[in-house]
Amino acid sequence: MQSQATLSTSELIELEHQYGAHNYHPVPVVLSKGEGVFLWDVEGKKYYDFLSAYSAVNQGHCHPRIIEALKNQASNLTLTSRAFHNDVLGPYEKFITEYFGFDRVLPMNTGVEACETAVKLCRKWSYEVKGVTVNQAKIIFVFGNFWGRTLAAISASTDPTSSRGFGPYMPGYVLIPYNDIDALKEALKDETVGGFMVEPIQGEAGVVVPDDDYLKSAYELCKEANVLFIADEVQTGIARTGKMICCEHHGFKPDILILGKALSGGVLPASAVLTSDEIMLTIKVGEHGSTFGGNPLSSAVAMEALKVVKDENLCENAEVLGGIFRDRMSNLVDKCDLVTIVRGKGLLNAIVINDTEDSSTARDICLALKDKGLLAKPTHGNIIRFAPPLVITEDQLHECCDIIESTVLEFEAKM
Ligand SMILES: Cc1ncc(COP(=O)(O)O)c(C=O)c1O
Repeated sequence: MQSQATLSTSELIELEHQYGAHNYHPVPVVLSKGEGVFLWDVEGKKYYDFLSAYSAVNQGHCHPRIIEALKNQASNLTLTSRAFHNDVLGPYEKFITEYFGFDRVLPMNTGVEACETAVKLCRKWSYEVKGVTVNQAKIIFVFGNFWGRTLAAISASTDPTSSRGFGPYMPGYVLIPYNDIDALKEALKDETVGGFMVEPIQGEAGVVVPDDDYLKSAYELCKEANVLFIADEVQTGIARTGKMICCEHHGFKPDILILGKALSGGVLPASAVLTSDEIMLTIKVGEHGSTFGGNPLSSAVAMEALKVVKDENLCENAEVLGGIFRDRMSNLVDKCDLVTIVRGKGLLNAIVINDTEDSSTARDICLALKDKGLLAKPTHGNIIRFAPPLVITEDQLHECCDIIESTVLEFEAKM
């Protein structure tokens, strides 16, 4: 067999097609190298990354400090399981709880595991602290939510592509419309409700930003009803929206904060649930765990990844450059009929294309962007998310806006 390095794009795609599950429909590019905001394909073509692995690579690809932390730790100790202590977990737990201002952390691996951990914590707290009758606790979710692919996660999904064919589903979930404070008020009347879990901005739904006062009002309603406000900041957290977590924009601290993705700078899976003593300590010895959660390697990587975010002022960069990006895209909205809306916060943004949800227009534009050296991915047939690594500079951002603008205008001219 040929060595991997000599296989072409089409040959490598064919291998995935022949031997892998068909659960993804990637943009047809095969990447072999990343550095900062750039990616290179196997033929050596260079691209701007405008997806950042769904906001996992906020610190930029292969950040030298994070890779150095990875290498140092990897040559000492990678995994002990939680059957024994290791000399990185304690310092990491102290570091991350102080960093985000919570009493305790429960480290997991992927975002969905952290979300599921939050659901379990919420149920436990509902029984042991709130006093809900055993096995009756409910959690409120909103339409359009996305928190991963496990059975617990798809049971909350309103997207049939995620849930169809995988039933039966998890009981104890209540679904209400997003950005609808009256619906929440009504749902909170049920005294068996223990939590309200929400993304401050819905990423996978197409970067859907709620009204300015929605999240704070929702938080206050939850407080009145003795219900936990659980913020799924797996995609919006770690500087992506211009603040360390998106809830900060609205001046409140969630009862439970869920982080993942950029917690490790995209280097390996690391996720975390942060909360108070009262909530975290409802889970006792042996009641929850993970072989890899809190391993020394991911703990060392996460610490460095979080330090980089502060040292490189990534919140400020996301805030300022996000404003410039939306201004540039608003100009594009004025210049053409094809793009109708630009929305987002910080460097989590999307444009909406004047076409139906099931059209291929967004994907076709992404293919044209790829040819011009910019990688982005549609979230639906008519929405393209733009989320570059937060280390992007203003000059680079303008160059990318030029690429997006010329591609969209050429695309419209051909229609
Ligand atoms: C808001 C949100 N929560 C949870 C998840 C699940 O994370 P993971 O894919 O790491 O399990 C995602 C993934 O996109 C997400 O966007």
